[in-house]
Amino acid sequence: TTADIGVIGMGVMGSRLARNLARHGHAVGIYNVTTAKTQAVLDEHGDEGTFVPAAELADFVASLTRPRVVLIMVVAGPITDEVIGNVKEFLEPGDIIIDGGNSLYTDTIRREKELREDGLLFVGAGVSGGAEGALHGPSIMPGCSDEAYGRVGPMLESIAAKADDGEACCTHISTDGSGHYVKMVHNGIEYADMQLIAEAYSLLRGALELEPAALAEVFRAWNTTELESYLIEITAEVLDQVDAETGKPLVDVILDQAGQKGTGRWTVQDALDLGVPVTGIAEATFARALSSSVPQREAGQELAALAEAWQVDDADAVTEDVRKALYASKVVAYSQGFDQIYAAAVEYDWQIDLAAVAKIWREGCIIRAAFLDEIAAAYAGAAKRTGNQAADLHGAAEANDAKVSRDGAGTTNEASVDDESAAGEHSGTSTPGARTEDAEGSSGGENPVPLLLAARHFREAVEECIPALRRVVAQAALAGVPVPAFAASLAYYDGVRAKRLPAALIQGQRDFFGSHTYARIDKPGMFHTQWAEDGTEVPAS
Ligand code: 6PG
Repeated sequence: TTADIGVIGMGVMGSRLARNLARHGHAVGIYNVTTAKTQAVLDEHGDEGTFVPAAELADFVASLTRPRVVLIMVVAGPITDEVIGNVKEFLEPGDIIIDGGNSLYTDTIRREKELREDGLLFVGAGVSGGAEGALHGPSIMPGCSDEAYGRVGPMLESIAAKADDGEACCTHISTDGSGHYVKMVHNGIEYADMQLIAEAYSLLRGALELEPAALAEVFRAWNTTELESYLIEITAEVLDQVDAETGKPLVDVILDQAGQKGTGRWTVQDALDLGVPVTGIAEATFARALSSSVPQREAGQELAALAEAWQVDDADAVTEDVRKALYASKVVAYSQGFDQIYAAAVEYDWQIDLAAVAKIWREGCIIRAAFLDEIAAAYAGAAKRTGNQAADLHGAAEANDAKVSRDGAGTTNEASVDDESAAGEHSGTSTPGARTEDAEGSSGGENPVPLLLAARHFREAVEECIPALRRVVAQAALAGVPVPAFAASLAYYDGVRAKRLPAALIQGQRDFFGSHTYARIDKPGMFHTQWAEDGTEVPAS
């Protein structure tokens, strides 16, 4: 038999994706360095479809129909490079390699380029949904050329999760590293979402003095509201779990140091480079780092709380406040994440349809949530209003314009600043401090949804929750309960809606000590005050 696709790596994800493919009628070549794993898949699941096992890489490749499609599911990083290098030797021009791991998008860009020189096509596919998703339908985010997608798209779509409307949770994201980039931000949002849920849990547990099993009920109830999502659902399961050994709630015997494999950190690192404030994701990533800062936490035990216990008069009202705080903060996190994907599309020249990204996150992936329908609608609606095709929402021409706008409107002022931003207007995509070397001046095309938070549905829904978020953050502060992601979300909300920010004072300080110059609200150009001399203002040269 010849196989339609070959899977390298029979670990948890690889074996389950191979089985998913086989169950959907594709003949699947399977290979693993240790042959025993390949054999185990055959022994245990050989009846689920057509598998073509191989013990040698040469035989594995020989078993595939041409042009060959090889899906690599191994550990991200050097091992992925090693496997690509090994299998490449047996491939021919026109053959396709898919990397389905959590690879860093810059690695994907490099690999695509290298393989293209050998005539091979490379697909960097983000795959979300864990072990269950891999088997029963993950969300798939492939980045590649049109040619490669034409060949692998139908196969990937066939095994992807299906949304309620029947659409497959797999779409061609854009070229090279775009798929892994979108998966990276997905994981960043996942970090924020998990941290927010954890903060809600910790607040309720402290304020209401409820046991985990009772809190599981609260989360179960929340899962019937607009918070409905996979992460809320599994939170209830985790809180309900009892440790067999001690009889205690499992959550109370798990060591409170959160691990991380890199995707959240990469999201924040790249957001810093792009100048996109993804404060929810950043606080979530740092909260994991704080939890694992063992010596600091040991030393910190010395610190006094100087806090006052939360006086709860109405437990239901507090629960509802926390639920609303969670919803508002969650919208902030997604808004920031989509903002980052937009900025990356502009910076790295990808055409990414944000409505399509929201749609393929509706099922299969870890951050699947009911409100992704509304996010998709917000982006799709904007595309219509601006007269763009949805697929061209972030098209190349517009992207280039927006890049100018982004850099020009919020530069650190060593570069020229356009009239619009000099006049103090909010120009949509502007973000200070990033990539100033690219600054080109005047503003151009706008992001049709510069702020998801301000899209009508979400603006109204979040406004509904803001008083609750304020109360929750204030009470948490008084009670000495750390809620970094809630607090950061509220600060972002207040920051982004502020008419004037104290950034003006920072510009003054920068000009004072470093002659960094500043723009004025009432006329174009850049200025410098001669602080050390007579204090007069001069135009900057
Ligand atoms: C997914 C998950 C998956 C993995 C994360 C966990 O979308 O299926 O995000 O990719 O579980 O990498 O990340 P951390 O180990 O960094 O929490």
